[in-house]
Amino acid sequence: MKEALENLEREALSEIQGAEKKEEFLDIRTRYLGRKGLLTGILRKLKEIPSEDRPAMGDLSNRIKNRISREIEAALELCEAKVRDEGLLRDAIDVTLPGRSVTRGKLHPISQTMKEICAIFGALGFSVMEGPEVELDYYNFEALNIPKDHPARDMQDTFYIAGDTVLRTHTSPVQVRTMEKHRPPVRILSPGKVYRPDSDISHTPMFHQVEGLLVDRGISFGDLKGVLGYFLRDIFGDNRKVRFRPSFFPFTEPSAEVDIECVICGGEGCRICGQSGWLEILGCGMVDPAVYLNVGYDPEEYTGFAFGLGVERIAMLKYGITDIRLFFENDKRFLDQF
Ligand code: DAH
Repeated sequence: MKEALENLEREALSEIQGAEKKEEFLDIRTRYLGRKGLLTGILRKLKEIPSEDRPAMGDLSNRIKNRISREIEAALELCEAKVRDEGLLRDAIDVTLPGRSVTRGKLHPISQTMKEICAIFGALGFSVMEGPEVELDYYNFEALNIPKDHPARDMQDTFYIAGDTVLRTHTSPVQVRTMEKHRPPVRILSPGKVYRPDSDISHTPMFHQVEGLLVDRGISFGDLKGVLGYFLRDIFGDNRKVRFRPSFFPFTEPSAEVDIECVICGGEGCRICGQSGWLEILGCGMVDPAVYLNVGYDPEEYTGFAFGLGVERIAMLKYGITDIRLFFENDKRFLDQF
């Protein structure tokens, strides 16, 4: 019996040596140590041997059983470690790979320019006031001293919606809406979208304007020049020449347009400025008494100035862009530059 036990031990150990997979080890364990296994098979014959030899055989079989058990446990542990290592190797992170860059959204160049304009006037005490884009003919034209059938209406081609509603052609109606609600002093800025049926290299059917209005006692054309001069120096730099040129708007008297030295040729004369060396950038003037009468202000008591500027135009000049349509094509390569 001793020999049978020792043979069993040798065979079991050699099988363990030769095995690799977890299933193989489990199978060896069942075959040798299981309830119907080989070891039990040998021990069944224990009662056939002399009783004085039994304890020694019991002992031996226990030691063999423990030895085989330990070997199998150790082999199973190695198996698990191997699986773990293989997993780690397979899922390894290559820390030398370049990272994916995070792209941040940003404001459209027109929004940026609009914000910049509002910030400059904001510092001078102007507060922002908004008005509707679908506007009554009354506010867009009549209250601004542009009666029906007046030739001045031709200055601004108009999208008519129905009856007396239009898409506003400028931000000037906000002047009237503001003065109807507030008594002087009034000092507001009104940024927003405006619409005109026009489309070419320098016009789009929708574009943006910023309107300004300041009304109080004793306001003069000198105040107008001072405020706009400050704004233009801030946005275009100290060295750019500026000129006020007499013009006409039905809602201001006197009226002016402001030109700046051409940003492309520096005043020499080029294709962009039509060889004049100057670029027109805004309209302005002293508020016409006729407009005061429409909002119930006394023109003998109050004076003030107004101005309106095109945001796309300012952005084009600032960044040297020659086609306004680029702003609305949403080409990321163009937008990413700002
Ligand atoms: N509303 C005019 C336009 O769109 C611009 C303008 C001119 C606005 C003179 C004004 C102003 O406030 O005083 O062409």
